[in-house]
Amino acid sequence: MNPELPPNTMQPVLVPPEDADTLHPEAGDLFKDNPIDRRCLRELSGKSIINVADLSRSEIIELCKLAAVLEKIEIAPYHPLDGKVAVTAFFEASTRTRLSFESSMLRLDGKIISIADGKLTGVAKGESLYDIGEMFNAYCDLVIMRHTDTDAVDQLRQTLRVPLINAGNGSGEHPTQALADWYALLKWRPELSSTKPSKDNEKLELGILGTPGSMRAVKSFLLMSLYFSQHIKRVTVISEMADPFGADVIDHLKAAHIDYEVTNDIQEILPQLDIVYMNSIAFLGDSYKTLDTRYKLDSESALKESAVVLHPLARQDELDKSLDRTSHNLYFSQAHGAVFVRQALLMSVFNRLDRLPGQVPTIG
Ligand code: CP
Repeated sequence: MNPELPPNTMQPVLVPPEDADTLHPEAGDLFKDNPIDRRCLRELSGKSIINVADLSRSEIIELCKLAAVLEKIEIAPYHPLDGKVAVTAFFEASTRTRLSFESSMLRLDGKIISIADGKLTGVAKGESLYDIGEMFNAYCDLVIMRHTDTDAVDQLRQTLRVPLINAGNGSGEHPTQALADWYALLKWRPELSSTKPSKDNEKLELGILGTPGSMRAVKSFLLMSLYFSQHIKRVTVISEMADPFGADVIDHLKAAHIDYEVTNDIQEILPQLDIVYMNSIAFLGDSYKTLDTRYKLDSESALKESAVVLHPLARQDELDKSLDRTSHNLYFSQAHGAVFVRQALLMSVFNRLDRLPGQVPTIG
């Protein structure tokens, strides 16, 4: 049942946002004639999302369909997350992830308490995540945490009893970034959501700059891409390292029966790529490592006319601003869409799908 609208509020209608940027693919095709499967999304109720493996392919697609709806309608009058409090606990710098989660919560009428800098918590006095987890149980209904340590998630979960969303843990994973990546790709090519394999000559060549073994956004993107292997011809990782994958990622690639290779020359491989996943920084040990500046793309690069470029941002010299106003730019769609796909995840984890307006087509 949908809640009653407060007096004097307009019925939401499916309209393009007034400030739609024509470079961004439209969200509509993902849910047109394709109702959202609420039963599938209810599986996420109360669930922690630590790794890509915590999401199924169907859940990813339904989340993206819901995000596409949320991108089109005015959801605020339905107060989907009223009464819910999330903490954004960031023990490592962030622009997009923390702010887009906070924007998502606030636009759904949830509330946020925020740790923008872990040094301002009891950690500065030697407090453990074990103890902080116990405090979070009392203060909020959901934790969204980023941390420099890969094992921080495990430390917190020793005592945490509310759901946890991993917003990036050291060199581990960043599953909601991968959701934002794939939301942008599914808007670009809605047919990628089909379980029917693409014809061989229509399968996509995917190029990924970076090291999945040590770069969490790259790793999560690659792991989520394996759910769409029926549409992917080959994955090429562009890296200075001889073995950038790490053993567990190789196992996943083999299991998905995807051809993969490694090259250290982006210019050589560029003309054949359909999707180029750029990246700039890896968090190694306790410091950032910047990639070699020879891995640079600009509007003069030999990209296929139809190719799209993704980048989780923040960027440095590897992604020139001259690409921003070209049709290759999918990275702003990635960043903008993150609000809606995170809203979809929050509504699912908080089990508030019953707050969707009646005009949104759903089943289950
Ligand atoms: N993409 C991403 O994780 O960006 P932030 O580091 O700004 O959160």
